[in-house]
Amino acid sequence: MMRHISVPDKYVEGTLETLKKFGWLNRRMKIISSKKENYRLIPLDPDAPTKLPPELSNFEIIEDEGLLENRLNTDWLHYLLEQIKEVDFGKYTDHWPNSHEFIGDMMIVRIDDIISKFTEQIAIAKLKAHQHIRLILNDNGVKGDYRIRELIPIGYRMGDNIQTKKLKSTINTKVIVKESGQEIVCDPTKAYFSTKLQTERIETYILAKKLRKILNRPISVCDPFCGVGPALAPLLRKENLVKKVLACDFNPQAITLLFENLTKWDKRKYPNYAKNISKLYQDRIVGFEDAANLMHNQEYLGTWDLLILNIPHQSMEFLPKLIPLLRKNSPTLIRGRVIVPESEIQSTNIKLKEILPDKLEGHQEPALKIKRDYSSSLRLCSFNAWLEIN
Ligand SMILES: C[S@@+](CC[C@H](N)C(=O)[O-])C[C@H]1O[C@@H](n2cnc3c(N)ncnc32)[C@H](O)[C@@H]1O
Repeated sequence: MMRHISVPDKYVEGTLETLKKFGWLNRRMKIISSKKENYRLIPLDPDAPTKLPPELSNFEIIEDEGLLENRLNTDWLHYLLEQIKEVDFGKYTDHWPNSHEFIGDMMIVRIDDIISKFTEQIAIAKLKAHQHIRLILNDNGVKGDYRIRELIPIGYRMGDNIQTKKLKSTINTKVIVKESGQEIVCDPTKAYFSTKLQTERIETYILAKKLRKILNRPISVCDPFCGVGPALAPLLRKENLVKKVLACDFNPQAITLLFENLTKWDKRKYPNYAKNISKLYQDRIVGFEDAANLMHNQEYLGTWDLLILNIPHQSMEFLPKLIPLLRKNSPTLIRGRVIVPESEIQSTNIKLKEILPDKLEGHQEPALKIKRDYSSSLRLCSFNAWLEIN
């Protein structure tokens, strides 16, 4: 049996505040309804005194079996509060990293500088709340041309123990992510990968099927900024959707992982090192290359039905260099992502129209669609350009 304080509904919020202030709320148990109409039973911590202070002493104490709080498993803040002072917990309420990204059995969080002194406690709390997570990393943002996130290990689960100190740089960050039924090998410390782009990838897949229907044949796909290949994963899974693929990236580590993925997806062998771009099979041109050089190879020109342009900071710069790769006198599609200030969306649409004048009949002009905020002034947008180039 467990002590509960029986409180009329309208006093529940205020009583909770008071109990939290004194540390007398039993966070492992649920607040439950009372047999008494319009009353709730709030679970008391075993350490709460038998004689409560005046603001609580008017309420009756009831012994009840109570109900275990099963939300607790994911309530990481509860575990954080176990380790830090209530006053600090309250002081930084707006800064605790409530969102996170799961990549395989790893969790990525962003810890604001202002709370960096609690990094160890945050790591422990998150690992306790998410029992399937092996490793937690702090995201210091995307760095360099390869767009790799600087990820610092802050907590590691070893059996029943959580380790937060002397985390070896040898901790494994290569994991398998399952998306749309396909396994993707990735290592976010070596090559760009974001699970948040899954919706984009599904949209690309739907559009690729539409293009296949228009052309009435399997399509050829060019992914010049392919990373480890996640955009290709759903396309290659669908039978008879894709015939030829050109995939390249100038990050050699991305290419090594791409080869590993293609070996699985295509069920044929690819090199186990980052080889320069080459025709590895009749229908696969894959490897390490700067996308700016593709237009210099005659063999790659006028060949591709679908162009995936996933280089949001430089899309407008690369677009003119990649248009020659598209097939001529046939319906084609560019799936692009662009980061622009909100104030420049209209002018970018005009620029897109100038660069891509050959719109496919019956389709709208390409126009940026805001997907999300990239910063306070910048917007991450996508566009679909349906074309028929003469
Ligand atoms: C935003 S990431 C997208 C990766 C991948 N398409 C995905 O969705 O996960 C951009 C990729 O372009 C690559 N990249 C940047 N500049 C490049 C260039 N000039 N040529 C080839 N790849 C480039 C980076 O290494 C990075 O992997």
